Amino acid sequence: MKKYIQEDEWKIIEEGFKPEQHKNSESLFSLGNGHMGQRANFEELYSGPSLQGHYIAGIYYPDKTRVGWWKNGYPEYFAKVLNAPSWIGIHLEIDQQSIDIYSLKVLDFKRVLDMQKGILLREFTAELKNGEIIKVVAKRFLSICRREIGAIQYEITPINFSADIKADLFIDAGISNQDANYDEKFWNPVSESAIGNLTLITAQTKKTDFTVTTAQWTSININHSPSQLSPENHIETQKVHSIYKFSLNKGETASLYKIVSVSTSRDYSKELLEEQAKHNVTEANDLGFEALEKEHIKAWAAKWEESDIVIEGDLSAQQGIRFNIFQLIQTYSGHDARLNIGPKGFTGEKYGGSTYWDTEAYCLPFYLSTAEENIPRNLLLYRYNQLDKAIENARKLGFTNGAALFPMVTMTGEECHNEWEITFEEIHRNGAIAYAIFNYSRHTGDESYIIDYGLEVLIAISRFWAQRINYSRQRQKYVMLGVTGPNEYENNVNNNWYTNYIAVWTLRYTLEGISKIQEAYPEKAKQLFNKINLDPNQETVLWKEIIGNMHLPEDNDLQIFLQQDGYLDKEQILASELAPFERPINQNWSWDRILRSCFIKQADVLQGIYFFEDSFSEKEIRRNFDFYEPRTVHESSLSPCIHVVLATKLGKLDKAYELYLRTSRLDLDDYNHEVHEGCHITSMAGTWLSVVEGFGGMRVKNDSLHFDPLLPPAWKSLHFKVRFRGRFIKVSIQQQKLVITPLDGRTFKYFVDEKELITE
Ligand code: BGC
Repeated sequence: MKKYIQEDEWKIIEEGFKPEQHKNSESLFSLGNGHMGQRANFEELYSGPSLQGHYIAGIYYPDKTRVGWWKNGYPEYFAKVLNAPSWIGIHLEIDQQSIDIYSLKVLDFKRVLDMQKGILLREFTAELKNGEIIKVVAKRFLSICRREIGAIQYEITPINFSADIKADLFIDAGISNQDANYDEKFWNPVSESAIGNLTLITAQTKKTDFTVTTAQWTSININHSPSQLSPENHIETQKVHSIYKFSLNKGETASLYKIVSVSTSRDYSKELLEEQAKHNVTEANDLGFEALEKEHIKAWAAKWEESDIVIEGDLSAQQGIRFNIFQLIQTYSGHDARLNIGPKGFTGEKYGGSTYWDTEAYCLPFYLSTAEENIPRNLLLYRYNQLDKAIENARKLGFTNGAALFPMVTMTGEECHNEWEITFEEIHRNGAIAYAIFNYSRHTGDESYIIDYGLEVLIAISRFWAQRINYSRQRQKYVMLGVTGPNEYENNVNNNWYTNYIAVWTLRYTLEGISKIQEAYPEKAKQLFNKINLDPNQETVLWKEIIGNMHLPEDNDLQIFLQQDGYLDKEQILASELAPFERPINQNWSWDRILRSCFIKQADVLQGIYFFEDSFSEKEIRRNFDFYEPRTVHESSLSPCIHVVLATKLGKLDKAYELYLRTSRLDLDDYNHEVHEGCHITSMAGTWLSVVEGFGGMRVKNDSLHFDPLLPPAWKSLHFKVRFRGRFIKVSIQQQKLVITPLDGRTFKYFVDEKELITE
């Protein structure tokens, strides 16, 4: 754990310049607006360790797969979220000295991410080699209401001297990815141009042919009044510069402005792209930095109005949850069903920015409760639109008859993961995609999704399960061999309880869906069954047999579900017995030792219990929790949240709180020693689950919201808002009291501790 961020309700604050934590801060102070995002790189030259990162949603590169032993079925490429043209650059020369704070004496330094306003601020004072002191104050944001617009205000003041300054405001398309497999550059130049204060660069990705135009409008104020100074423009291949040369007397301030537009061929035809970018940037510049900032702050206020969580009495927890919500909103706006939520969002290169089961298993509930219904629906449609590719993916592996295996990692629906034990074996992801359809219908009450889209996906997934499962004569049961469960510290196991359970559940849920559509919409049923060539009477016979006769491993002595066949053969040690220097084990143990150990990376049996809580008695939940949690090392960011939800249900408040801080401050306090690579965006939705489903005890049951809250002793109160079936309510919990306020003024029925209540 590394704690250097100051605690504050609304702000992330770093004070003092420490280059060794700069990469961490670049991740933590990242900005995004759903369309694009960037790490908190400095505008000026910086020669210290840094990970440059500008990303545009949906713009990727199919990097050639790199593996040791090629296995049939591996994908040809890995979709990489690309470093996109960087538009923040402002390089300074003062009295002919280049400003690079890595090599200067930094007198003071402060970086602030104002989450309430969505603004990144940075100020520093530095001493140049000859004793001259300068102060810089930089402010930037990516407009949350004009998705293609970003803006920078960069102020320079010479404190104890009069300065001759050269400021180079540039856009750089000659960028690369640090994680490129073959040190390739991914962008081809298309055009560069400059007219007056407007410079423009268009670049195209290799292979995928995405075209991006980045346009900047630059200007300068001297002592806060507009200056008529014109830039000298320079054009190079893949780089355009607007250079301002001016002098400042001691104490005078120059404010440099960059208003930027980033438009892509995902949204416009290539021929119109430059026109569009020019139009956007001119319009935004006419409004001016302050007006853009004002509307941006207002739009953030509206977002917070809907999604904020207030925790009174615990600053650390409050800052943690707001940081998580802020990052989620920055990452996914839900306006485009072609986009999804990458585990690192716009904060780093790792995981390629692609889609994992994280979306369905962890993220969906956040968007269900805090956003308009079409936003979570778009997350489901993303998979529906990729169903053909999931069927193709399964076909490549030998499955037939429309069986679908959704990819472990994807950008466009094609599999991008290439480790056999995950690509071919971590098939529980199909279950999460089915579960999300159920979760969406349960929360929204919208039956149309399942009828029009969801059932087709469910049937394809059920077809996969029915083929992936085989009958064991020896056991006289159906079994599923050679899988990896959510606990990736076990590979190629037989009968992972979680995977077997969710497979059976999917088959059952699909059968229910089939009956429902046949009864309520016989015409639609006919059309669908024709389209996918399904004879329900015939094909579901096997499904029913599997449902009634699946092997779900249990241990009768311990009365627990068994993570997989043979799990108890392992030497049973608890995570608390590990020495601190051994943790995290994935950084300190060999992989084979991890595989042979009983240690669990993340919720596995408990993930199933979390999803299907109502099917288990409290005693069953407790026994399994008490057995598995102590063996869990929580080395996936997705782990603590599920345990918080179950721990609060079981009244284990200390455990729940310890794990809550771990999930909500995972990145802020760098629990896993990896925040320099980027933030854990998908697990941030898990933090939301910890608060709302954990401490708030919220569940959807029988078409109603149920609450069973339990707050940590330090929390004076907890407040959050929830959208539910067209309603919008505020939930306020104090230690002994829960108050629901319907925000539309109509009465609202809900349950506390299984007792029905109604608002006045
Ligand atoms: C976890 C997976 C997860 C992936 C991306 C891995 O470390 O084990 O469950 O899907 O990270 O977040």
